[in-house]
Amino acid sequence: MHVYIEDIGTHVGEQITIKGWLHNRRSSGKIHFLILRDGTGFIQAVMSKAGVGDEMFKAADHLSQETSVVVTGTARADQRAPGGYEIDVAELEVIGESHDYPITPKEHGVDYLLDRRHLWIRSERQHAILRVRHEIINAVRDFFNVRGFILADTPIFTPAACEGTTTLFPAQYFEDQTAYLTQSGQLYNEANAMALGRVYCFGPTFRAEKSKTRRHLTEFWMVEPEMAYADLNDVMDLAEALVVSIVGRVIDRRRRELKAIERDLSKLESVKAPFPRVSYDEAVKILKEKGLPFEWGGDFGAPDETTLSEQYDRPVMVHRYPAAVKGFYMKPDPAHPNLALNVDVLAPEGYGEIIGGSERLADLDLLLERIKEHHLPQEAFEWYIDLRRYGTVPHGGFGMGIERVVAWICGLEHVRETIPYPRMLYRLYP
Ligand code: 4AD
Ligand code: MG
Repeated sequence: MHVYIEDIGTHVGEQITIKGWLHNRRSSGKIHFLILRDGTGFIQAVMSKAGVGDEMFKAADHLSQETSVVVTGTARADQRAPGGYEIDVAELEVIGESHDYPITPKEHGVDYLLDRRHLWIRSERQHAILRVRHEIINAVRDFFNVRGFILADTPIFTPAACEGTTTLFPAQYFEDQTAYLTQSGQLYNEANAMALGRVYCFGPTFRAEKSKTRRHLTEFWMVEPEMAYADLNDVMDLAEALVVSIVGRVIDRRRRELKAIERDLSKLESVKAPFPRVSYDEAVKILKEKGLPFEWGGDFGAPDETTLSEQYDRPVMVHRYPAAVKGFYMKPDPAHPNLALNVDVLAPEGYGEIIGGSERLADLDLLLERIKEHHLPQEAFEWYIDLRRYGTVPHGGFGMGIERVVAWICGLEHVRETIPYPRMLYRLYP
């Protein structure tokens, strides 16, 4: 019977078949130890001369890395095995040979590996990261679906900018039009929230970021909830609940993967509500006390965010930034109109901003003013302005970048390992 490695625990003592690939192999005279993988996990298969006969035993001598194999044998519990189980091989069939596999157990440079990303994802560590990513995405979907948010997809081809005009990717749209790849579904989300109440979109977003940092991709996945009749506090409450729920679920269901990538679980276990809520003004004070040369008025850079996040054992929510450094669509704080009613959630351990959100500008005249100040073409935003003409309400939401969250939860140096095929300034292949 075909069994996936992750389910082997329920088949101890039975004759089973694993369909996978040879990950690694070592031999000691009369025994071959074959490490198999099938996408769900890794397991050691023990092949003895006595068990399979001379001929098959000899053939297995030449099996090379990534040969695809179908192995039949008896599943056995073994305390010493990493997954807790092993297989005693009775039969092995080669499906596809593999010669000179380019990624060997020795160390390779990152560029070498990224050029072979289509193969690199077979390795144990990359495999574990992608499974954690999957869990995070499912946790996000469940979180919103259970709470009654409606998934309303937003377009990828758009006629205008949402997050500044300097990071747009243009695309020729038939003969005479330019479309831009979306930077954020937010503006459409706002319209959808006026129709459906609470909504979210979840898809790829694009930024022509010329910055070569460990946090930036040119194509990344963002989940964006938006709520009608909501203020900044509601937005912060939702962001906090989402992050707590994701971390809890990954600890619950992906312990094995987190262990494989040697993540310090105690760091994740302290991610509990409430998260500290710190105003931008207070954050600037903290940075100055810590001796950073930060001046009030600017957006935080990576070193600033790192210093801030290091003050806490859980994510910190920084709110009310200077309006001048934030999006045109944010509502100003009525008490201090030079501040925006926004929030950035900074992950612990120096992982920086994972969420950006705000209460939106619901007032028609103010919005028209802002569009002018930002030199945005009003014609392109007429539909968006309509939302303020026909029954405007206080509303707000945020965007959370999946790759940044995966990097943080997995404890990775760089976002390039958080997505199967990363797109960066100098990386479009494979
Ligand atoms: O802060 P940002 O730019 O906010 C927006 O796009 C809002 N319109 C979202 C909203 O309110 N609906 O981006 C949100 C998040 C960031 O906090 C970060 O996690 C991620 O998107 N992000 C990136 N991730 C990877 N590479 C990049 N170049 C990213 N730019 C933003
Ligand atoms: Mg931001």
